[in-house]
Amino acid sequence: MDIHWFESLDSTQSHLIAQLKSGEISPPICVGASLQTMGRGSRGNEWIGEKGNLFISIAIKRSTLPKDLKLESTSIYLAFLMKEYLCSKGSKIWLKWPNDFYLDRKKIGGVITNLVDDIVIGGIGINLVSAPKNFEKLDIEITPYDLTKGYVELFANLPSWKQIFSNYQIEFENSREFFTHNNNEKIALKRVILCEDGSLECDGQRIFSLR
Ligand code: BTN
Repeated sequence: MDIHWFESLDSTQSHLIAQLKSGEISPPICVGASLQTMGRGSRGNEWIGEKGNLFISIAIKRSTLPKDLKLESTSIYLAFLMKEYLCSKGSKIWLKWPNDFYLDRKKIGGVITNLVDDIVIGGIGINLVSAPKNFEKLDIEITPYDLTKGYVELFANLPSWKQIFSNYQIEFENSREFFTHNNNEKIALKRVILCEDGSLECDGQRIFSLR
């Protein structure tokens, strides 16, 4: 997968989506930036980070992802691949449901996912060198480019969803003492059931992770 690297972009996610829509680039492709000035976070929030942190977006055709991977599981899948890669490098990073990277009890990054026709666009931000107030940064030293290179190499031989989910199920127990938001409701993760596609069941209601 090619990597297009920029010194500065408003948002790797917005940039990649615009270029895919205009037909200037096609998947598979990864766009990274050393600095992001108008980063998009989950639930309409902004994503703030200084130079030296990780800001990347990856575009992949759905047909090239594992056959057993449902669209609603893609966000967790992309996040868990990153988590496993960083753990293999010695980090204690973990994934809070659905796609927030944590170190102990503090958030250090996250994933957003968009869909343009049959192309999945996953955007990943991780605090590598500095973190805003109330956030934490990664516990190992790695440059944004080296991390990006290592991560995109995984796409040459992707594990099935089944493989990822069997590890994610164990990881999910770490989320139990936390909460998640669904629409404007705060939901305690200790009282939910984790479904096979990574969604949650709570009081007969399904809560999906694609966001
Ligand atoms: C979250 O709020 O938890 C998700 C943050 C995702 C931020 C990344 S940084 C690279 C990519 N480009 C963006 O504008 N957002 C994502």
